[in-house]
Amino acid sequence: MRLLVTGGLGFIGSNFVRHVLKSHPSWTVVNIDVLTYAGNPANLADLARNPRYRWVRGDIRDPRAVAGCMEGADAVVHFAAESHVDRSILDASSFIETNVLGTNVLLDAARRLSVGRFVHVSTDEVYGSVEQGFSTEDDPLAPNSPYAASKAASDLLVRSYVVTHGLPAVITRASNNFGPYQYPEKALPLLITNFMDDLPFPLYGDGLNVRDWVYVLDHVRAVEFVLLKGKTGEAYNVGGTHSCTNKELIERVRGLMGKPASLVTPVPDRPGHDRRYALDCRKLTSLGFKHAHPFEAALAKTIAWYRANPAWWRPLKKAGGYKKYYDKQYAGRLVGRRAGAPKR
Ligand code: NAD
Ligand code: TYD
Repeated sequence: MRLLVTGGLGFIGSNFVRHVLKSHPSWTVVNIDVLTYAGNPANLADLARNPRYRWVRGDIRDPRAVAGCMEGADAVVHFAAESHVDRSILDASSFIETNVLGTNVLLDAARRLSVGRFVHVSTDEVYGSVEQGFSTEDDPLAPNSPYAASKAASDLLVRSYVVTHGLPAVITRASNNFGPYQYPEKALPLLITNFMDDLPFPLYGDGLNVRDWVYVLDHVRAVEFVLLKGKTGEAYNVGGTHSCTNKELIERVRGLMGKPASLVTPVPDRPGHDRRYALDCRKLTSLGFKHAHPFEAALAKTIAWYRANPAWWRPLKKAGGYKKYYDKQYAGRLVGRRAGAPKR
C-alpha cells in the first residue's frame, strides 16, 4: 500500500508512520508536513535512511503541493492540524485555515485523484462536554472550543464528500493521547517535564475535569485498523482504557515521580473548559479491535521515555516560541508561585 500521511512529523503522526512501516514491510509512506512549531524532524530521525519513507515539506492548504504528494497514493491518513485547545483560545485563525480549509484541499484532491481510502483523524472533543453517559458516533456534534469547532467542521466536510462525491472516507475520534514525542504544551508532557525540573504544574480550575486517556500506540493501531477494516462513511470512537479527573492523573504521576504536592499549582480555569469527555467504543471493538497497552504500564513507560530523552524535549522548551507561548498562556497565573509556594 502506498500511503500519504499528513502531519507525520507531529506527535501521533510520527508514531503512526513508525508503526505502519514496521508492521507492513511492503508499504511505503509519503509524509506531507509543513513543520509548524509542533512538527519536528527529530520525531522520525530513525527513518531518515528508510527507502520506504519520504518527507515532503509542504502545506495541506496548498492544492499544488497536495496534488503532487497524493498522485499515486492508494490511501490518505490525515493527521495534520493545529491541535492545542489553549492556543485556539488565544487565536483561532490558524485552526480554521489548517483544520477546515486544509482538510477541504485534501478531500478535493482525493476526489479528483480517486484515492481508494481517506482516513480523517478527529477527536472526542467534537461531541462537547458529556456530563453523564458516553458519546456514540451518532450523537450530535456540539464543540465548545475553537479547536473542537474546527475539527467538527472538518468532520462534517468529510461526511459531505462521502455523501456528495462518494469519497471512500472514514473518521476516527480519539480521546486524549499520551506517549513519546508529545510536544510539551499538552497537559501530560508538561506535567512530566515540569516535575523533572521541580517546576510547578498549573492546574486549571478545581482539577475535577474528566478525560479518557489512550496510549498513542493504541491510537495508531486503531487508525491502522480503521484504514483496513472501517466502513465508508462511518465514524469510529477510539477511547483508551482509563478515565480519571485531572487531579487523579496528577496524583498518579506525582507518586510515580516522587514529587511533592506543592508543585501542583491551582490557576484560573480555562475559558469554556469541557467538564468531561467519555466515549462509547463498542462500534470499534465489535469490529475486533483490542487495546494492547494497559494504562498503568503505558504511563510508567511514558514517564521513563521523557526521563531518557531530555535531548528531545529540552530544546523545545528552551526555544523562543515556546517561552513566548508559555508566558502568554500562563502570564499572571504562575507569578510568584514557584515550587513550595502554591497560592490561589
Ligand atoms: P501535533 O500538533 O503534535 O502535530 C500536528 C502536525 O501537523 C505537526 O507535525 C505540524 O507540523 C503539522 N501541520 C500543522 N499544520 C499543517 C499544515 N497546514 N500543513 C502540513 N502540516 C501541518 O498534533 P497531534 O497531537 O499529533 O494530533 C494529530 C491529529 O490527531 C490532529 O488532527 C488532532 O486533532 C488529532 N487528535 C489528537 C489528540 C491528542 O490527544 N493529541 C486526540 C484526538 C485527536
Ligand atoms: P490538554 O492536554 O490541553 O488536552 P484537552 O484540553 O484537549 O483535553 O489538557 C488535558 C486536561 O488538563 C484538560 O482538562 C485541561 C487540563 N490542563 C491543566 O489543568 N493545566 C494545563 O496547563 C494544561 C495544558 C491542561
